[in-house]
Amino acid sequence: MYNFAKRMGEVSASPVREILKLMADPEIISFGGGSPANESFPIDTIQDIIDKALQENGHQVLQYGVTEGWKPFREAFLEHIAYPKGVKASLENVITTTGATQGIQLATDVFLDPGDVVLVESPTFLSTLMVFKKYFIKCVPVETDEHGMIMEDLEEKIKKHHPKMLYSIPTFQNPTGKTLPLERRKKIAELASAYNMMVMEDDPYCDLRYKGEALPPIKSFDQTGHVILLNSFSKIISPGLRVGTILAEPEIIQKITVAKQCADTHTTNLTQVVCAEFLNRGLLSEHLKAITQMYAARLNTMQEGIKKYFPSGTEYTQPEGGLFIWTELPGEPNIQALLERAVEQHKVAFVPGKPFYINPEDGRKSLRLNFSSNTPETIEEGMKRLGELFSAIY
Ligand SMILES: Cc1ncc(COP(=O)(O)O)c(C=O)c1O
Repeated sequence: MYNFAKRMGEVSASPVREILKLMADPEIISFGGGSPANESFPIDTIQDIIDKALQENGHQVLQYGVTEGWKPFREAFLEHIAYPKGVKASLENVITTTGATQGIQLATDVFLDPGDVVLVESPTFLSTLMVFKKYFIKCVPVETDEHGMIMEDLEEKIKKHHPKMLYSIPTFQNPTGKTLPLERRKKIAELASAYNMMVMEDDPYCDLRYKGEALPPIKSFDQTGHVILLNSFSKIISPGLRVGTILAEPEIIQKITVAKQCADTHTTNLTQVVCAEFLNRGLLSEHLKAITQMYAARLNTMQEGIKKYFPSGTEYTQPEGGLFIWTELPGEPNIQALLERAVEQHKVAFVPGKPFYINPEDGRKSLRLNFSSNTPETIEEGMKRLGELFSAIY
């Protein structure tokens, strides 16, 4: 009945958000979302920071703020997040965003026109694919191995398709949990310069590492200003705060500032104050230690659950961090039918693989499992239920 814009015709509701609704049913064990654990939120600290901010600086915090973001927050971000990762930048390189989701949207706004080509990892984050679809952008998948994008295929696709941008989630990727090794990060920065291609580096999971060595972002190898680095506080403090950042060349930040003025004027001052204070009080490293310990145990339980309960021949990734395991069942399973039975009869949910691919058929055997939002006991029970269901079809 309504004459909606054509761009909305390309986009349907995110299957993950649909599955999140199921989490309202307390009987369902959901491995579907990408949420941090409720019990990870530092509620008392945040309460204290907010009380003090309102007492000491209430008028400024509650007033309109500047579009680029709360200055002490951007300073704290540079000092505590960007510099330790080897990224050289100053305030004019940073804008606060309303989550990385808005970072993706704004980078798209300022760089991409309908019909432009963007290279993406195969599979990749489905919400970004939704944004690209809405803008009529042509996504071309780059082949991946167990370490993420394959550089030979990347270069071949650059030469063939002349993409304007590469979208990459280099660390503990969503949905696979894979991490691009150092040499590939350097290579991407080189290719971006050589072929004048922008890189949207979406790195919200980099601080959730449970083993192995930390890796610098692609941005730290960028000599020519081709890389736009997106970070987020969603997975390390709380997604409800809706605080993220874009770090890029000042000329890009200026354009993005205009795009953000059209979108939401500025990100909430109060939640930027929370993140700034959290960093400036030196609380992040202790907090990360506590949550990574908790998530490591959950990851381990889920991997053990796959080994114990899933059909033999099941393949799965071995992430060193992040929130997800990517699983491929043997043979030709009907994942959609399995999901319906899992939810209705076994009261357990997951995300099917297809929406993460440009060619949905590539994901027909796959599913994404989130391990952060359930306790080890619940994960064990949920994996047992899923394993029984999956094993019964072979
Ligand atoms: C790769 C990736 N980018 C961006 C986001 C969105 O994060 P935010 O909550 O900061 O908008 C997510 C959330 O799941 C994600 O997995």
